[in-house]
Amino acid sequence: MDNNRQVQVKDSMIRLHPIAQRFLLLATLLWTTVFSAQETDPVSGLIKAEGWEVVQSTCTECHAALLITQNAGNRSVWESRIRWMQETQGLRLLAPDEEQTILDYLAISYPQKAATRRAALPAQQMPSNPYEAED
Ligand code: HEC
Repeated sequence: MDNNRQVQVKDSMIRLHPIAQRFLLLATLLWTTVFSAQETDPVSGLIKAEGWEVVQSTCTECHAALLITQNAGNRSVWESRIRWMQETQGLRLLAPDEEQTILDYLAISYPQKAATRRAALPAQQMPSNPYEAED
């Protein structure tokens, strides 16, 4: 009896094995798909999408890439940041195709977030205003 049960248990473990293997394969595939989609460069932290090397070599000369990776914006927001750095921070003029590559990369990899700030508090939850006129 006991021997029989042991054999049954072993048998069912063997039969379960290919299913477990399939789960493992599926989990591995999912894991690699999710993580290769957002693969980042370990040094700069930049997402390794098309054009990332151009951004790394052009945009990490004066400041860390963190300034880029923690920012978000649509194409025109990114363009205005580049213009601001060119006008006030000494960023050189970029060749048109170089600028295209950089803007494409930034707008795709660091796009505008749906919401970056919480909504304002309702008036009754605001602290009292110390500058409010007293009559
Ligand atoms: C010539 C130097 C220089 C280069 C090259 C440069 N930047 Fe900057 N960038 C600056 C300076 C200076 C600041 C302001 C840093 C600070 O506020 O501490 C800045 C700030 C930023 C900011 C933050 C802006 C904000 O609104 O707070 C972003 C984003 C940025 N740079 C992206 C880039 C990108 C993308 C590139 C490549 C196209 C680039 N930078 C290349 C000098 C440079």
